[in-house]
Amino acid sequence: MPALFTPFTLKDVTLRNRIGVPPMCQYSARDGYVSEWHLPHYADIARGGAGLVIVEATAVSPEGRITPGCTGLWQDGQVEGMARIAHAIAAGGAVPGIQIGHAGRKASANKPWEGDDHIPNDQPGGWQTISPSALAFSGGLPKVPTEMTLDDIARVKRDFVAAAIRARDAGFKWLELHFAHGYLAQSFFSAHANTRTDAYGGDLAARSRFLIETLQAVREVWPENLPLTARFGVIEFDGRDEETLAEAIGLVKTFKSEGLDFLSVSMGFSTIESNVPWGPAFMAPIAKHVRDETGLAVGTAWGMDIPQDAEKAIAEQQMDVVFAARAHLANPHYPFRVARELGLPAAGSVLPDQYAYWLRRYP
Ligand code: FNR
Repeated sequence: MPALFTPFTLKDVTLRNRIGVPPMCQYSARDGYVSEWHLPHYADIARGGAGLVIVEATAVSPEGRITPGCTGLWQDGQVEGMARIAHAIAAGGAVPGIQIGHAGRKASANKPWEGDDHIPNDQPGGWQTISPSALAFSGGLPKVPTEMTLDDIARVKRDFVAAAIRARDAGFKWLELHFAHGYLAQSFFSAHANTRTDAYGGDLAARSRFLIETLQAVREVWPENLPLTARFGVIEFDGRDEETLAEAIGLVKTFKSEGLDFLSVSMGFSTIESNVPWGPAFMAPIAKHVRDETGLAVGTAWGMDIPQDAEKAIAEQQMDVVFAARAHLANPHYPFRVARELGLPAAGSVLPDQYAYWLRRYP
């Protein structure tokens, strides 16, 4: 039995195997409401056999959307569509998860296939962005954000809490706070984006404050028996990696003591001055390091989709869940392909009976 196909239990939730689908924006929502695109997309992927399917970065407020096509949970009316998606994922046999976040200074951008760049404020879909400091990301995202006031900070924390309640009410069983990829929370942590001199910027404790307070506030409302997780960029590949990783690990230990159950280990993407060593499983040693240092259950994505690499990552306890994103876009039944390649007996049983019966019958 490949280790990848053993169940994983966290709190009251059990994944049928160790394959997770990380969040992937579909840029197909209208005013934050899911569209006819989303339900079949998520249902197909869940039927494909993954243990966990995490719904795309869903904004906690309108200005927190990456693009005008991003999903949201800032209104009660948005719960119903999301509930249908959570239900469809569960009906497909996967645990339904969702990522909630705020895009900070990277918000108000065009869809990737329409440029991926900032939309000017005076055009439809253009809005003034906010961030810890009035520093632009630069490159294709040149807008200078407004520095957040203490009231803004308090409001965004409340938005996270309200979105978490709506995610809970929609039936999601796994909540992922988006603390990664250069969006708002990552920007508080990163000196590339945060030059504040008040309680939310400066030393490590101050740069960590927004993330810790958001986690604490969400922990109050997210059910104790369900996994509360985060995706966090622990490294920037900007030449200061040892320092960043050490700081990040210190913060992850605090997350754990504040009730975080799992970390999706990722990159910071806080600066364009980075040199990411793209390649198969390149984040696996970093995920293992975080796991060993913190004792927290972890997973990572980024080129983990070669079946033998994924199997090794679980068998050698580098991580607890392997995330495969683009592989699921190429083939929503990707776990079936992995099962066959790793020699799982009756590999077809990874799929629902409606498909598995026939695949077993005519191998
Ligand atoms: C992503 N990614 C991403 N990450 C995230 O934290 N929230 C998100 O909403 C998205 N959206 C998104 C959309 C699309 C279309 C892609 C391809 C990617 C990153 C994603 O979760 C994953 O980390 C990367 O795709 C790397 O994993 P793979 O593709 O190498 O398995």
